[in-house]
Amino acid sequence: QPELNGIVAVDGPSGTGKSTTARRLAGSLRAAYLDTGAMYRAVTSAVLRTGVSPEDPEEVARVVRNSRVVMRMDPELPGVLLDGDDVGDEIRGKAVTGAVSAVSAVSEVREMLVAEQRRLITAVTGSGGGVVVEGRDVGTVVVPEAGLKVYLTASSDARAQRRSTQDAAAGRASDPQRVHADVRRRDALDSNRQVAPLRMAEDAVLVDTTELDVEQVLGRLHELVEERGLLV
Ligand code: DC
Repeated sequence: QPELNGIVAVDGPSGTGKSTTARRLAGSLRAAYLDTGAMYRAVTSAVLRTGVSPEDPEEVARVVRNSRVVMRMDPELPGVLLDGDDVGDEIRGKAVTGAVSAVSAVSEVREMLVAEQRRLITAVTGSGGGVVVEGRDVGTVVVPEAGLKVYLTASSDARAQRRSTQDAAAGRASDPQRVHADVRRRDALDSNRQVAPLRMAEDAVLVDTTELDVEQVLGRLHELVEERGLLV
């Protein structure tokens, strides 16, 4: 059974199957898995808990400076702790989803989280392991040196559809039209912000998942990992 040696960056907007794909890729290659979106979501929980406005960058930065996010990087049991609390469910809720774009647009917040992401990644690679990192700016900002950068896309219809299915599976009520509007709104915010906007790295491989199921996307990624000589 080959194992991953090195870093795979998986970026792209939500609803492209990024999380499932990245997590399963890590699991099948005995690698660590880092969900950077969960970190932005966890600090957004911190902001909401303190009652600070997500639109107030200075207050947001202060809250984030004073909160402690711990990531579990086991792809079989990934998780995120905020000040010792498991916030795995809370961060997928509507309140966090509605506020996370504003929080993740604060440059000081990004600096803090990117530094922590690099520290976590280096801890894995420094001991000879592999890591699959998913997010929006992993290949462009966090680890431009990654051995493989993948950028996942899908039509906005396909992405909204997947979000609705996920919400239903998790028992969250959701209205398809609202989900569609939300996907577009978050895309616009994430792509147009000043700091580290969502964009594809020049040397990333574009994978359009509109017509592909998870197994097909995983098959493609396995090929790419092998081509790059990232297996041991
Ligand atoms: O992948 P996700 O939906 O859990 O990400 C949540 C939000 O966090 C998303 O709206 C954009 C932001 N994010 C970011 O700015 N940079 C990252 N590397 C990951 C996520």
